[in-house]
Amino acid sequence: PRVAVIVVAAGSGTRLGAGAPKAFVGIDSHSILWHCLHGVFAVPDAQVVIVAPESRSGDALTEALAVSGDKADFASVVVGGPTRQASVAAGLAALRADIEIVLVHDAARALTPPAVFERVIAEIEAGAPAAIPVLPVVDTIKRVDGSTITAHVDRSRLAAAQTPQGFRREVLDAAYRSATAEFTDDAALVAEAGHRVAVVDGDARSFKITTRDDLERAQSLVTPSVT
Ligand code: CTP
Ligand code: MG
Repeated sequence: PRVAVIVVAAGSGTRLGAGAPKAFVGIDSHSILWHCLHGVFAVPDAQVVIVAPESRSGDALTEALAVSGDKADFASVVVGGPTRQASVAAGLAALRADIEIVLVHDAARALTPPAVFERVIAEIEAGAPAAIPVLPVVDTIKRVDGSTITAHVDRSRLAAAQTPQGFRREVLDAAYRSATAEFTDDAALVAEAGHRVAVVDGDARSFKITTRDDLERAQSLVTPSVT
């Protein structure tokens, strides 16, 4: 099957507050996007579409060329939209006609190990229309209404969703064509369109860099690089 990875990197990074679009903020001497693309280009023979802010599309292409090496022909950059969902839609519009499996990945999950991509792809190849990596929830969760707890939620039945989220291409295309609301991830959008979403094991290293603390955690995890 022909696989594509859409890397959404068009957000502004308001909560990180680093003065630049988040994907272009450094972890070490390299950006969040650069680190993310290392995992993405480990997927064999995948088309890679990077969705970037208009002002940074040239930088995104530079990062792609730096990381992809002899796979540069498979990489392209498109301009994102005002919401994550609009940015994914822009990426979908750039897919080659022969693509059968699409993974959507947050650039902000910069340290996602290649094995997670492999597990998601394997689940789709085995027949699932959609598959996402999840982690167990470690906190004890309450449902609240204002200042009152209204339910004590059984955390063994909860999971925290990560990316890359994988889909059969026609399933994701159709779900995006029919979507009438904004969803926080693609799995919710595809489930709303009536498809079963399978889960595979996520990884703690796939955490999303959202705040300054998350960036420091990423900095502590990357070993100094010689290039
Ligand atoms: N994203 C995007 N286009 C948008 C909004 C988000 O491509 N209009 C991407 C981000 O670049 C990120 C991923 O979606 O890789 C997850 O979004 P989030 O962590 O919320 O990033 P930002 O929106 O940039 O951060 P913030 O919400 O703090 O502004
Ligand atoms: Mg955001």
